[in-house]
Amino acid sequence: MSRTAFKKFLMLGSVAAAFASVNAFALPVMQSAFLEKYPATVNTALASCATCHLPIKEGFVNSYGLALKNAKLDFAAIEGLPSAVAGKTNLEQITALLNPGSQAVDPEVFDFPNEMGTVRFNHGGHIMNANTKITGNCGACHGEGEKQFPKVFDPTVVLKAAAHTTCIGCHKAVAVPAAPTKCAGCHQE
Ligand code: HEC
Ligand code: HEC
Ligand code: HEC
Ligand code: HEC
Repeated sequence: MSRTAFKKFLMLGSVAAAFASVNAFALPVMQSAFLEKYPATVNTALASCATCHLPIKEGFVNSYGLALKNAKLDFAAIEGLPSAVAGKTNLEQITALLNPGSQAVDPEVFDFPNEMGTVRFNHGGHIMNANTKITGNCGACHGEGEKQFPKVFDPTVVLKAAAHTTCIGCHKAVAVPAAPTKCAGCHQE
């Protein structure tokens, strides 16, 4: 499923959520079940479809959603399992109000800390924005070869060679002002 279709689904879902109390829809029920199980997450970033659905790992869900599905929707059964963040269990992530299915605080926007200055990369934007001309082409960054990126967000690994070849390479090729090629355009500080 494309991201556009997924977003449409999410929008339909939130409309459906408004009627959840009168009409027992299956999907918003997953969200309410989560909030009921972990009341501290109400009104936080974790009170979101993204907690189980982004970034998509398989089919329609992220790694946490997949574990939940495999455990027949038993939250307690997967609390002790490793989350998407190395060394942290699902419960440790949820307790810290962090996404159990992604290392990113916002699963669409990744911050890469490094000595030159943090680079904020809008993953969702690069996939969705028609201007990038890479809509749906995951291989623009996740293809074969050492100058490409793994499909795991890991802020502790500095991928300078890949970034300066693949990211800057495309920015130079598209040659539009909105695609930065100068250091400060990507490295903040
Ligand atoms: C606590 C985790 C969790 C949350 C939060 C959650 N979901 Fe889900 N959702 C799941 C799981 C698990 C499935 C089952 C996936 C499957 O069986 O393939 C699922 C399935 C779905 C499906 C069906 C996908 C299909 O292939 O038919 C839709 C649509 C969906 N969710 C939308 C939403 C929306 C919209 C929200 C936010 C209002 C939401 N979900 C919040 C866990 C969650
Ligand atoms: C295949 C082409 C392509 C690749 C690969 C690419 N970008 Fe971009 N990027 C663009 C284009 C085009 C824009 C301008 C988008 C617009 O017009 O809104 C852009 C905009 C940006 C911006 C400024 C707007 C924003 O989203 O904040 C940043 C920062 C950025 N890219 C970082 C990166 C990084 C980091 C990578 C590598 C991980 C990368 N880009 C890989 C094409 C690409
Ligand atoms: C413009 C470059 C670019 C494009 C296009 C792109 N990605 Fe990524 N993706 C990245 C980067 C960079 C990372 C982080 C890599 C790292 O930290 O080592 C990443 C990470 C991921 C992750 C791991 C997320 C997490 O939270 O652990 C997934 C899953 C992923 N990408 C899927 C996709 C899919 C599916 C597509 C196509 C629809 C896609 N990507 C297109 C650059 C891109
Ligand atoms: C298109 C975005 C982009 C531009 C433009 C860019 N960089 Fe980078 N740079 C990155 C990314 C992404 C990384 C890898 C960050 C990570 O993996 O933590 C990186 C990594 C680095 C590192 C490694 C830092 C470390 O901790 O080892 C250095 C040094 C660096 N860049 C210098 C520069 C300089 C100097 C320029 C200007 C000539 C520049 N960069 C322009 C995106 C960019």
